Amino acid sequence: MMCEDIHSALQTLAVKYAVDQVCVVMDEKLADSGESIIRHPEWPILRLAASEQNKSLETVQQIWDFLFAHGITRRGLLICIGGGVITDLGGFAAATYKRGIDYVNVPTTLLAMIDASTGGKTGINYGGLKNSIGCFAPPVETLIWTGWLQTLPAKEMLSGFGEMLKTGLIVEGLWSELMRYDLDTMPLESLQTLIAKSVAAKEQIVAADPKEEGLRKVLNFGHTFGHALEEKSMDAHARSGVESLDHGYAVVYGMIAELYLSVTKVGCPKEPLQQLSQLMLHYYGKPNCKCSDREALIALMQQDKKNERTAQINCTLIQHIGSPLINQVITPEEANEALEYLFSL
Ligand SMILES: NC(=O)c1ccc[n+]([C@@H]2O[C@H](COP(=O)([O-])OP(=O)(O)OC[C@H]3O[C@@H](n4cnc5c(N)ncnc54)[C@H](O)[C@@H]3O)[C@@H](O)[C@H]2O)c1
Ligand SMILES: [Zn+2]
Repeated sequence: MMCEDIHSALQTLAVKYAVDQVCVVMDEKLADSGESIIRHPEWPILRLAASEQNKSLETVQQIWDFLFAHGITRRGLLICIGGGVITDLGGFAAATYKRGIDYVNVPTTLLAMIDASTGGKTGINYGGLKNSIGCFAPPVETLIWTGWLQTLPAKEMLSGFGEMLKTGLIVEGLWSELMRYDLDTMPLESLQTLIAKSVAAKEQIVAADPKEEGLRKVLNFGHTFGHALEEKSMDAHARSGVESLDHGYAVVYGMIAELYLSVTKVGCPKEPLQQLSQLMLHYYGKPNCKCSDREALIALMQQDKKNERTAQINCTLIQHIGSPLINQVITPEEANEALEYLFSL
């Protein structure tokens, strides 16, 4: 739910959900601003560092311990204030504490507002694999207040905007509005309608397929190539310290490759590919990670967990804006051509 007045929205939660106690987990970066927004000195707050390393079982234990220490019963409520790391962690801790208590998400990054905090996926990284442990457990409510974005670094804004662009390509009626939005000059208020539309689109897709058995795969547009680029860049980061790609950036690059294939394989018009290529050069820059080894990228895509069969590259493509096609099989040669296009820009 979009809210103009986050203070009042938070104030009413305990009554609205008839809960006995409220606890808060919050990104430690928001500590001061967060507390002045909560204005509930009696609500215990656990501050957590938001990093992928911290999205761990140890942190979940820390949240469980915090809930036990405050005597939270099954009629308690957990409020998760932060980006996707905090909402995924808090959601998982809430879903498993005493077999599940209600929780509310208060996303503070653009990515969490339009993606991570809706859809009901919660979880942690485990065994060196991202989001490998978790469960589907939707929050009772998501409170979206764009005021948080004032302090969000530009790179994080762009990462979230990347996922919004994805939504714009798979649903009708959002893309042209996104193309008119100028991140450099336009005020945050004008982003509100775009956020609301993106969230509504994701909610509608998730409602039709809550457990990702089919239709929900449309949300993976850009992610087959995107994940491979992200993984390769993380590997390069581990080896030589070069900066790795943020998820939303990787999705933008992945969407360019998958739009290229949408044009060549399923007859998508060229316009969105041209528009996204231009936008990429303007905002995101070329993929400057050490991730352009096409052979290695193709091998990674062949191992992708989204594949129905091993060694087969599986993508969501679009026939035109708002008309996605799931389970499209891509040959290594086609993947190579799409990557060649991406790296030629
Ligand atoms: N559950 C889902 O469906 C889903 C979907 C997409 C992504 N995710 C998960 O979300 C995570 C990525 O989300 P994210 O990009 O929000 O990451 P994040 O939580 O790590 O936040 C990004 C950075 O912004 C900082 N931050 C947060 N709010 C801020 C604010 N208002 N001002 C200044 N800094 C702020 C954080 O401290 C962090 O450094 C990943 O772990 C991913 O797996 C989950
Ligand atoms: Zn994504």
